[in-house]
Amino acid sequence: MQSLKQQIAQANLPKHIAIIMDGNGRWAKRQGLARVFGHKQGVQTVHNITEAAAELGIRYLTLYAFSTENWNRPKEEVDALMTLLVDTIALETPTLMNNNVRLLTIGDLSRLPENARRKFIDCIAQTAGNTGLSLVLALSYSSRWEITDMARRIAREAAKGRLTAENIDESTVSAYLTTAGIPDPDLLIRTSGELRISNFLLWQLAYAELYFTDRLWPEFSVEDFYTAIIDYQHRERRFGKTSEQVN
Ligand code: IPE
Ligand code: IPE
Ligand code: MG
Repeated sequence: MQSLKQQIAQANLPKHIAIIMDGNGRWAKRQGLARVFGHKQGVQTVHNITEAAAELGIRYLTLYAFSTENWNRPKEEVDALMTLLVDTIALETPTLMNNNVRLLTIGDLSRLPENARRKFIDCIAQTAGNTGLSLVLALSYSSRWEITDMARRIAREAAKGRLTAENIDESTVSAYLTTAGIPDPDLLIRTSGELRISNFLLWQLAYAELYFTDRLWPEFSVEDFYTAIIDYQHRERRFGKTSEQVN
């Protein structure tokens, strides 16, 4: 019997996997613990999945860590999440270096507390030369924020005469999103059984394959990750064409 890992076809790896890491609170509640313990356990999953992705040779892994709407959670939870982010980034930078992982962020970092923002900027600089996996953390991110920001920035360029309406095409839009330079995700995974996108990468997910699992993020294992990739590899991606055309 081949292991799950052996069943993954190296020639058909998704170049970019995006994950909506959901279910930390429910996992904690199930153990009779406070929500923050779910977030702490979730960090361990981030560690494991990042290592697995780097080892497989995935080029980009984008993790939805904190949404624009998550700012509306109770202050204690937001504060606990920010503290956890700061502690984790300091603790995990050596892991990123050991695995040749480059850190990137997307989202409105200006809303993060100063110490958190500084930690991320430092880690991004420290890992900038790494040539393996690019780990993209979505922090204070939402698609509607990003698309609004894109429109504002394009309008500013147009006002300065550096862009004209006729020159704006799909590649212009992509270039003014916070994901500029990052290829679109091939596979989106959402844990915890929720069947929605929650304001994540609406433009970029246009042709992604979607994979939903009931597993809660703190219990999502490397084997579960392999299972999602194998499922992806059995899909036929047609991009609007017929099956005959793509075969
Ligand atoms: C995902 O888990 C982590 C973040 C959104 C920060 P949740 O905290 O949303 O956990 P549930 O969905 O309430 O179980
Ligand atoms: C999406 O999870 C955001 C992140 C995983 C960071 P939520 O738990 O915030 O999403 P909803 O509220 O269930 O849609
Ligand atoms: Mg949730």
